[in-house]
Amino acid sequence: MILVTGGAGYIGSHCVLKLKEAGEKVLVFDNFSTGHIETVQNLGVEFVKGDLKNPSDINAVFDDYKIDAVVHFAAFSQVGESVKEPYKYFQNNVCGTLNLLDVMVKHDCKKIVFSSTAATYGEPVYTPIDENHPQKPINPYGETKLTVEMIMDDFDKAYGLKSVRLRYFNVAGADESGRIGEWHEPETHLVPNVLKAALGSGQVFKLFGDDYDTKDGTCVRDYIDVNDLIDAHILALKYLQDGGDTNVFNLGTKTGSTVKEVFAACENVTGMKIPYEICPRREGDPAILVADNTKALEIFGWQPSRKLQNSVQSAWNWEQILTNRNK
Ligand code: UFG
Repeated sequence: MILVTGGAGYIGSHCVLKLKEAGEKVLVFDNFSTGHIETVQNLGVEFVKGDLKNPSDINAVFDDYKIDAVVHFAAFSQVGESVKEPYKYFQNNVCGTLNLLDVMVKHDCKKIVFSSTAATYGEPVYTPIDENHPQKPINPYGETKLTVEMIMDDFDKAYGLKSVRLRYFNVAGADESGRIGEWHEPETHLVPNVLKAALGSGQVFKLFGDDYDTKDGTCVRDYIDVNDLIDAHILALKYLQDGGDTNVFNLGTKTGSTVKEVFAACENVTGMKIPYEICPRREGDPAILVADNTKALEIFGWQPSRKLQNSVQSAWNWEQILTNRNK
C-alpha cells in the first residue's frame, strides 16, 4: 500500500487519482487544515485524519497498515505566510516530516518521494536552473524544504532510507476530466487568480510588477502541468521500488512564460476580457525562474507533454465547476 500524506491537497489529490488509476492501493493521511475532505471523499479512497506533528497519529497508521512507500505532500506552502509565521512553517514542514521519517524507519519502510521546490534555490545565479544550482533559499518556506532534503540525506546515510526529492517549479492545471483541481483558500497563485477575475468574483486581477528586467517587464516562471508533474511522481516511485538510490530532480518544462503571457493565455481560453490592474512588485519574487529538466528525462524518461494553453484550459474547466459548487 502507498501512503500519500497531504492527499487532500491540490497536488496530492492528483497523485492519489493517478495511483488509483494505476491499480495501486492508496491510503491518504491528511489533517484537512488546507486540503478538503470532500476531495478525498469524491476520489473514493481510504483516508485517515491525522497530523504529522503528533507522532502517535502517524505511528498508528504504520501499525495498522502495511505501507510499502510514502509520497509526502503534506506541508504549508505559502511563501508570504512563511515569512510572517516561520514557527508554523518549521514546526509543520520540518518537525512533521521528521516524525514521519522516524516512524517509517521504525517500521522498516524506506522509500519516500518528497515534494520539494524551486524555492530551495533562492535567487537564481544562472538560468535555466539545474539540480546542481546552489541552494540558498530566501524565505522560510524554501528553508523548510531544504532542511528536509538535508535530513533525508542523513537518514539515508544512517538508516538506508531512500528518497526522491522532486523540486517543483510553478504547478498549474487540473485533472482533465474535471474531478479535482486547485482549491486554495485564500488563493495566491497566478492562473486561478486570473480565472477567478474572469468569472466575475468581484476581484480585479492584480499583476504584481511590470518593471522587471524581462522581455515584457513581468516575471518569468516555468509552468508545469499538474498531470505531467504527477507522471513524474509515478516514475519516481517505480524508480525507488526498482532499487533506485536517493536522488533529486527538477520538475519543469525548460520554458519560461511571463505573467502577461499567462494572462493572455487565460483571455484566449476563456474568450473574455479580464479586468486587471498593475500593482507594485510582490516582495520576494525573483524575476526569472526556469527549470533545466534534462535529468528527469535522462533517468526517468520523463518529458512533460502539456503546454501552458492545456493547463489553463483544464484550470478553467475546474474553476467553473468549483465556483458553481460553492455558490
Ligand atoms: N502573480 C501576480 N498576481 C497574482 C498572483 C501571482 O501578478 O495574483 C505573479 C507573481 O508575482 C509571480 C507569478 O505571478 O510573478 C507567479 O506567482 P505564483 O504565486 O503563482 O507562484 P510563485 O512563483 O510565487 O510560487 C511558486 C510556488 C511556490 C514556490 C515558488 C518557487 O507556488 O510554492 O514557486 O519560487 F515556492
